[in-house]
Amino acid sequence: MMELRVLVLMLVVAFLYPTCVESRVRNYKFSVVRKNTTALCASKPIIVVNGKFPGPTLYAREDDIVIVRVVNHVKDNVTIHWHGVRQLRTGWSDGPAYITQCPIQTGQSYIYNFTLTGQRGTLLWHAHINWQRATVHGAIVILPKRGVPYPFPKPDKEEIIIFGEWWKSDVEAVINQAMKLGQPPNVSDAHTINGLPGPAPNCSSQGYTLQVETGKTYLLRIVNAAVNEELFFKIAGHQLTIVEVDASYTKPFKTDTIFIGPGQTTNALLTADQKIGNYLIAISPFMDTIVAIDNQTAMGTLRYNGMLAVSSTTLTAMPPQNATPITTKFMDSLRSLNSKEYPANVPQTVDHSLMFAIGVAVNPCATCVNGSRVMADINNVSFVMPTTAILQAHYYNISGVYTDDFPANPPNPYNYTGTPPTSIQTNNGTKVYRLAYNSTVQLVLQGTSIIAPESHPTHLHGFNFYVVGKGLGNYDPKNDPKNFNLVDPVERNTISVPTAGWTAIRFRADNPGVWFMHCHLEVHTTWGLKMAFLVENGKGPNQSILPPPNDLPKC
Ligand code: C2O
Repeated sequence: MMELRVLVLMLVVAFLYPTCVESRVRNYKFSVVRKNTTALCASKPIIVVNGKFPGPTLYAREDDIVIVRVVNHVKDNVTIHWHGVRQLRTGWSDGPAYITQCPIQTGQSYIYNFTLTGQRGTLLWHAHINWQRATVHGAIVILPKRGVPYPFPKPDKEEIIIFGEWWKSDVEAVINQAMKLGQPPNVSDAHTINGLPGPAPNCSSQGYTLQVETGKTYLLRIVNAAVNEELFFKIAGHQLTIVEVDASYTKPFKTDTIFIGPGQTTNALLTADQKIGNYLIAISPFMDTIVAIDNQTAMGTLRYNGMLAVSSTTLTAMPPQNATPITTKFMDSLRSLNSKEYPANVPQTVDHSLMFAIGVAVNPCATCVNGSRVMADINNVSFVMPTTAILQAHYYNISGVYTDDFPANPPNPYNYTGTPPTSIQTNNGTKVYRLAYNSTVQLVLQGTSIIAPESHPTHLHGFNFYVVGKGLGNYDPKNDPKNFNLVDPVERNTISVPTAGWTAIRFRADNPGVWFMHCHLEVHTTWGLKMAFLVENGKGPNQSILPPPNDLPKC
């Protein structure tokens, strides 16, 4: 009898052991197809993954291996980017077209294969070619390792909330037309919450509904997958507790408004602690300068169990479009959790001190409507996409694809946030900035106001960075560093550089490969506000980029 019990116990242990200790392999198949979707009140077919808009959620735990086979069933070229996934040594799976891979062509497939190391929380995946990410996107949920709790009270339920923007016309046609004219593209026709705009012009969509039970707490995994807009998010009558951004835990804080840029993710706890009722859920755009935006508010409903859809809804006022103080307050409240389990490893010394002046500019253009073309640049370089992926060129030593002379500083310093010199023009180039393995970088992103100052949600691939400082006007290298937070700055992969201001970030170049950095307003990326860091291999074991997979697409 005793023996049998021991045997059973051993069997149970043997059965459980692999699942609790070893990393699991998560297999997904993404079929990229063109499909009609009625949810959008759009009659035209859009490009989506597995027929869904937004696309499927990728679920995994920290340390899991994720394998996604992407099959291209559309006429357009396709790539998928796992936004915020560190991709340690696996740059081949990062996804930006012509930076780390050639696109997956019609009828072809490619297997993305990466491990989720040192990250837990919410991220997003999206197409990374032209403007395809407008409809090709979805959430990535990275749960903590088995048996490891969240560093905040366990929610009763979790809910994914994805924001988007949609155009009645085909998005590629929208940007192609704009590029031909040299002018800004049409703004979107509506914002969406989980694919639904709610009451919008010429659209009777019901809008997204979040059904809740009184007294329960929900973890909202919020993703901004919009193309060109930073957004405000509010739920009438309810406070939200922020606990994580960009898959990094934060010190919890309460807010009634979330500010979120495209590419950013925010986890917030919501407790259904109000009177049973219907409460408005809404998103609206932030724009504190003269640039035109889609000013539609997308609306949904927080509905307590027992409430009817027809009952009245408690409303809330959205912040004005130019509510800079709300964005500042939100960003200033974000701090790394910086606990024993989740320390903030802020580089305390700096090997490369860089300053990138980022913004929109204007160049002469004979064929454009006004004789000029709107451009965007970093340090006067408007990045030109190569026709071979830079990572391949780097790995195989193919010359002529890129140069490694990206300027560490603006070539001709000027009053970035004041009246610009009339002579400012941008140059085209495919330039990277070279970093030795494990070197530390401080990068000041300085907004410029050549046409108009504007907020730039800037995203760095391959790394998380710490946001050590920010300010208005021009960065002062003498005095501003005195106020840097080198203890518990927020850690993220995308940061809004304030309008007519600057942001300082720090990161360690511990990931060999070629890593794209760009404004996540897709229109600015298209105009050239992008560059790449080339991080060399280290000398030690496990410090080199892995060899490319056999099915890596060819250009
Ligand atoms: Cu979310 Cu380079 O992008």
